Amino acid sequence: MEIRPVAHGEGTLLREFRLRAVRDAPEAFYLPLDEEEKATVDVWERWATSGAETADRVMFVAAEIGDWLGMAGCSLRSDGSGVLDATGMWVVPTARGRGLGELLIDAIVDWGRHRGAVRMEFAVTESNAVAIRLYRRLGFEPTGRRRRLESNSGLTGMFMTRAL
Ligand SMILES: CC(C)(COP(=O)(O)OP(=O)(O)OC[C@H]1O[C@@H](n2cnc3c(N)ncnc32)[C@H](O)[C@@H]1OP(=O)(O)O)[C@@H](O)C(=O)NCCC(=O)NCCS
Repeated sequence: MEIRPVAHGEGTLLREFRLRAVRDAPEAFYLPLDEEEKATVDVWERWATSGAETADRVMFVAAEIGDWLGMAGCSLRSDGSGVLDATGMWVVPTARGRGLGELLIDAIVDWGRHRGAVRMEFAVTESNAVAIRLYRRLGFEPTGRRRRLESNSGLTGMFMTRAL
């Protein structure tokens, strides 16, 4: 199993993996499936940076013998604040509980530190106890900011953060 950035030319695979994730866990994603489906391969190809030094974003996948088992990405804010926004964390149901979530976060943290990021932030659905427990274990705390999910107005996302 390796954690690696999505490579150039893998935008189609990434789009399919993302849609699989949204279908599996819609409550974990801000946008509904029909909005996610509107994002073309070009959009996902932009995340396929191969970890280039100048890239402002990266999407990591956990890959095992060619199969993708999980993903998580992040982007550096362009306002010079040094904040890294993490997004799109998902592990296929059959690979959960193996620590892939933590490895994916570690990869994001390393990538951000290498580029001078000082803080990481993301939203997690308040009812997602498994994810929140994982993030707390890794040192993330709620910021107090919350927002309703566009995919489900009955659900609220809360932002969590940690210094890098
Ligand atoms: C949240 C998520 C990414 C965690 O990934 P993971 O690789 O399973 O993470 P871990 O291996 O560290 O396990 C986290 C917890 O899952 C639970 N878990 C263990 N085995 C599991 C299994 N087979 N199935 C489901 N959950 C399991 C455990 O309670 C574990 O907590 P622990 O630290 O007390 O053991 C994953 O559950 C997931 O993709 N969920 C749906 C999408 C989602 O919620 N994304 C986060 C959006 S912010």
